[in-house]
Amino acid sequence: MQGKFITFEGIDGAGKSTHIESVRAFLTARGKVVCMTREPGGTALGEAIRQLFLERSMCPASEALLVFSARRQHLEQVVWPALARGEWVLCDRFTDATFAYQGGGRELGFDAIATLAQWTHPDFSPDLTLLFDIPPAAAHERVAHRGAMDRIESEQSVFHERVREAYLRRARAEPERIKVLSSDQSKDTVRARVLAFAQQLVQMADD
Ligand SMILES: Nc1ncnc2c1ncn2[C@@H]1O[C@H](COP(=O)(O)OP(=O)(O)OP(=O)(O)O)[C@@H](O)[C@H]1O
Ligand SMILES: [Mg+2]
Repeated sequence: MQGKFITFEGIDGAGKSTHIESVRAFLTARGKVVCMTREPGGTALGEAIRQLFLERSMCPASEALLVFSARRQHLEQVVWPALARGEWVLCDRFTDATFAYQGGGRELGFDAIATLAQWTHPDFSPDLTLLFDIPPAAAHERVAHRGAMDRIESEQSVFHERVREAYLRRARAEPERIKVLSSDQSKDTVRARVLAFAQQLVQMADD
């Protein structure tokens, strides 16, 4: 039996890590085997690429190509085998993030990213994507205490606005798969909506 692939998206500080944990607990309590992972990363090669990605300066196209390189390795080594074993894979960021950050934020455009996505994982996309939406200023306030910011976090607010808008464009194009959650509400309110979507998917899988 094939498992399900759920991705968590949104700008830095939007609530991805908080709610990936809620979904993990929810699914585990329902007897699902859960594989939690993240991008870029999730494999030894991917984590090495993540370091390069977050620390080295590079042109936007190289940035996009690096993430897709890490992604293919991650799919081959982690995601596809776990799904084939019937596991539920929860992934902190996936291809929608590349549309948002490199397509929108870096202004490469959606067509270039769509071409790379089609080459990297033809006919494969998440079963459900939870998009945590919040104004960049509010998200920034939540994570400001973390201290040193990486190369992406330290971009100007106009960059993060473009990323947010690109994410919302993705959601408008695929409303069945991408569920937008207003993340500037209380954690409990957001969690209830997140778990309602997870519950729907469990029900569909069990039917
Ligand atoms: N709905 C909420 N209300 C208030 N605080 C929240 C809410 N959701 C998350 N937070 C807090 O905001 C901070 C950022 O949340 P979290 O780490 O889940 O974001 P993230 O999307 O994973 O960020 P990053 O992309 O930087 O990893 C955390 O301190 C978290 O506890
Ligand atoms: Mg996080």
